[in-house]
Amino acid sequence: MRPEELRELGELLYDHCGIRLQAELSYVFERRLQPRLQLLALPSFGAYARYLRHHPEGSAELEAAVELLTTNETYFFREPNQLRAFSDELLPSLSQERAAERRLRIWSAGCSTGEECYTIAILLLRSGLFGGWQTEVFGSDISRRVIASARRAEYSASALRATDDELRRIYFETRGARFAPREAVRALVSFGRQNLLEAPGLRGVGQMDVIFCRNVMIYFDLAARRRVLESFLELLAPGGYLLLGHSESLINVTADFELVHLRNDVVYRKPARGKASP
Ligand SMILES: C[S@@+](CC[C@H](N)C(=O)[O-])C[C@H]1O[C@@H](n2cnc3c(N)ncnc32)[C@H](O)[C@@H]1O
Repeated sequence: MRPEELRELGELLYDHCGIRLQAELSYVFERRLQPRLQLLALPSFGAYARYLRHHPEGSAELEAAVELLTTNETYFFREPNQLRAFSDELLPSLSQERAAERRLRIWSAGCSTGEECYTIAILLLRSGLFGGWQTEVFGSDISRRVIASARRAEYSASALRATDDELRRIYFETRGARFAPREAVRALVSFGRQNLLEAPGLRGVGQMDVIFCRNVMIYFDLAARRRVLESFLELLAPGGYLLLGHSESLINVTADFELVHLRNDVVYRKPARGKASP
């Protein structure tokens, strides 16, 4: 891939989904996208970029490219300290704060194949705090392929490598060598395809009490992170929580969220009224 081709393709992808093609990884992109060039009988990456931009099938092809370039690694009960903070501290306080409405909505933004959503649903059930409430876990991702797999909800043993045996027994059924969350877990969860950089599309998601967006924005640059965080601020209920991956922080990104120190972790929160002071 020539530098100008990388630049052109990079711009297209960045504008579409916030992912930056880094020059030092151009050989990875080249290897992943090469089969598309062959399939479309295009002679070069420059021709591929022009196809994406101008061909009537260009936007469908852009989706195919995104499928090949995104990183979808995930598993059940990832980042246990944060999940402990969520179930031991955030869920009890949300059960009080939302007691009048008896409704709790949680969004896993960039959920990949769904393990994070089913993990959250298991923690909700296990807390025993929300019987008779309207509780929903919504998972979204830019990739149609992972959303289809999340809906199928059948997982290999390696997806449960961090799940303890008791939880596995209670909340999963076995299907041959594979594992599926039980119906009570699945009933809380729904999925949709969403590009986090398309703010108008996100409005349909509705107001959320908690947003998990873990290990998604690490692939975005500052401007794309800020755009996504603006959407989160709009969609979170006042006092709602934002949980990022353990290597992610909002320092030098935005001052719109408050930092909340819990016993096991720190999380972000939309101020209950107005904006946080910088
Ligand atoms: C590494 S996975 C993280 C999965 C899960 N949140 C976790 O922490 O285990 C990152 C996911 O973000 C999704 N993603 C990347 N860019 C996106 C965008 N612009 N909108 C929505 N999802 C995106 C990818 O398709 C991928 O499935």
